[in-house]
Amino acid sequence: MNIAEAIRTEAAASRFQISRQAYTDPAVYQLEMDRIFSHCWLYVGHSTEIEKPGDFKTRTLADRSVIFLKDRNGSIRCFLNVCPHRGAQVCRLSEGNARSFSCIYHGWIFENTGKSLSIAEPETYPPNFGEGGRNDLVPVPRFEEYRGFWFVNFDRKAQSLRDYLGDACDYIDVIVDQAATEMHIVGKAQEYSARANWKLLAENSTDILHVEALHPTYLDLVATNSGGAMKRGKMLGKCVDLGNGHSVIERQATYGRPIAQWISLWGDDAKAEIDAIYDRLVKMYGEERAIRMARYSRNLLIFPNLVINDIMSITVRSFQPKAADYMEVNVWALAPKEEIGTPALERRLSNFLEFLGPGGFATPDDIEALESCQRAALSAREAPWNDLSKGFDPKSADKVGDTKDELPQRAFWRGWQARLLSTGA
Ligand code: FES
Ligand SMILES: [Fe+2]
Repeated sequence: MNIAEAIRTEAAASRFQISRQAYTDPAVYQLEMDRIFSHCWLYVGHSTEIEKPGDFKTRTLADRSVIFLKDRNGSIRCFLNVCPHRGAQVCRLSEGNARSFSCIYHGWIFENTGKSLSIAEPETYPPNFGEGGRNDLVPVPRFEEYRGFWFVNFDRKAQSLRDYLGDACDYIDVIVDQAATEMHIVGKAQEYSARANWKLLAENSTDILHVEALHPTYLDLVATNSGGAMKRGKMLGKCVDLGNGHSVIERQATYGRPIAQWISLWGDDAKAEIDAIYDRLVKMYGEERAIRMARYSRNLLIFPNLVINDIMSITVRSFQPKAADYMEVNVWALAPKEEIGTPALERRLSNFLEFLGPGGFATPDDIEALESCQRAALSAREAPWNDLSKGFDPKSADKVGDTKDELPQRAFWRGWQARLLSTGA
């Protein structure tokens, strides 16, 4: 398909539309792998997932297997999970702790610093064979961190992670600073897949408009738990185009938040505890920022495939496209370290399960909706456009809107199109 024509705007009708082929065309998927996933910063993991020297996780990013680890000296590193000898996967486990890795094929062995320890029959090679680290594991071209979140970039010449995140950093700060100690990944990933294009999940992750129609049962439950305080309709807050395809919705939370908005369901003991957390935030960050941290929720999309939902629980979600119509999703719970082992963590994690968990109130509904969009987009050739016009004013810069506007989706698609059209990538 023609990428320049994938987005269609009509000023007279305030319409903003996306060609449905963008979700279904295998050639678009291939172009995305080349121009987006091989050049954008991709989230690989959180520093607290690999706490002890030797801890490692293998992950797949942009179709490449990588090993994310803490080496024997305490440095966090990321390697391509491919043997420098003849290409076997060096580490075949999804996680563990190891001082070294041994390739199954011919037995080459590597320290977890990446350094070659031994090769098969070294005496049959010239003495300078391994010079310059040529038998070592190959690190990913770029590997940078922002506040515990580690990202990989396969483009050696990419801008720094900090510049790439840009205005999104402030929203990450508002989340991370909620912890008195540090934010910590709790437990392991929830893993699921969807027979849908990855961009449908990117759109869904910053879409508040669908919640009332698609998740009414959950809203009823939340209303009951919050003493009937749950309001439908317009909510206080805004959505913002953060540039580079990133976007956020920040909105007033009309439900309980472990940091730091109490609801009666949690009992009186929790009230004192939550009030104390709120006081700490005011002392450290001033009232205005404390209100944002405690009383507002955030759905943050870091282009292309990382979502941080700071609602009742905090979830970190990344999704890996595998084909135009298939993706794999990983979701982790994030919580302040000081909550581990306390009832506060239970409150947080029960929300992590009951709403966004793969068997929760939201995710099965969302997957059903996304797969339905995918099936329809594939079949309905005579109805070729999706509509993302809500809140679109062709005369404005389209940078800030109401919480239920489709502005975050438009920001995503503009970022998408700019990347696909850039040939310098
Ligand atoms: S491919 Fe790994 S040792 Fe030969
Ligand atoms: Fe949803």
